[in-house]
Amino acid sequence: MTRFDHRVAIITGAGNGIGRATARMFVTEGATVVGVDTDEAALGAVRAELGPAFESFPADVADDAPEHDYVSACVARHGRIDVAFLNAGILGPSAPMDDYPLAAFDAVMGVNVRGVWLGTTRAMRAMRAQSTGGVITITSSTGGLRGSGGMGAYITSKHAVVGLMKAAAIEGGPFGIRVNAVHPGPTDTAVWTSAAPSKREESDSTGVGLPQLYRVADPAEIAAVVGFLSSDEAAFCTGASYPVDGGLLAGPPYRHPRSAH
Ligand SMILES: NC(=O)c1ccc[n+]([C@@H]2O[C@H](COP(=O)([O-])OP(=O)(O)OC[C@H]3O[C@@H](n4cnc5c(N)ncnc54)[C@H](O)[C@@H]3O)[C@@H](O)[C@H]2O)c1
Repeated sequence: MTRFDHRVAIITGAGNGIGRATARMFVTEGATVVGVDTDEAALGAVRAELGPAFESFPADVADDAPEHDYVSACVARHGRIDVAFLNAGILGPSAPMDDYPLAAFDAVMGVNVRGVWLGTTRAMRAMRAQSTGGVITITSSTGGLRGSGGMGAYITSKHAVVGLMKAAAIEGGPFGIRVNAVHPGPTDTAVWTSAAPSKREESDSTGVGLPQLYRVADPAEIAAVVGFLSSDEAAFCTGASYPVDGGLLAGPPYRHPRSAH
């Protein structure tokens, strides 16, 4: 008997990075996972790794057309949805806000906010119809709890989903629907690689610096917290933010005289 036996979990952005690591965790612990992504090849690779407990659903989370409604498809196929991990996100280009292309702002907000809105509202509708409720976890970022320069659209989007999460937790509570946000710090995925500072000095002076543990996270370390929040052990956790950031939000780094860092 494992934590997620007989449970059905949806993961958006399941083809890569944090979503893929979370799919691995859920399948290992007994769940059936419906993995959503625009990257069909990546979904195929996850299916090849995890087997039939991982079902691919190619879709754009920002698209409200019925063929992209992965929640209805999941309920039609499995009769229920226990867990939704709304994780798909994009970083967008790096530019000062007063130079930021409006089309890029719209694209970032489309995936990171509209996509999470659509996923949350679809999941809440389905979960409310079940007597057992459900759990929704949203991937924000440390950039959802503090600002940084050069990525204004991303910062805006990741703060927005914190408000979305709180509103959904309040409305979902009476129906046994728990809603939380995880806030990863720099994590070893494509998003991090594209934003990573090239050297320590740059790391100190930008909002995407290394955390106090002086390393980036393994995606499995984010998945572990999503697993906790999605499990019965977290039965009293809702409406809250959970940083998984190696101490990044604790404060600026300290150059300890006896540390090699
Ligand atoms: N990696 C980090 O350092 C880091 C830090 C904080 C927060 N995050 C957040 O974690 C989440 C996952 O990021 P990751 O690092 O695993 O990135 P990733 O690029 O490795 O994976 C993201 C996945 O989302 C998919 N995706 C993008 N747009 C989509 C859309 N419109 N519809 C469906 N799927 C779409 C991509 O195809 C990709 O497979 C994102 O929300 C990101 O903002 C990442």
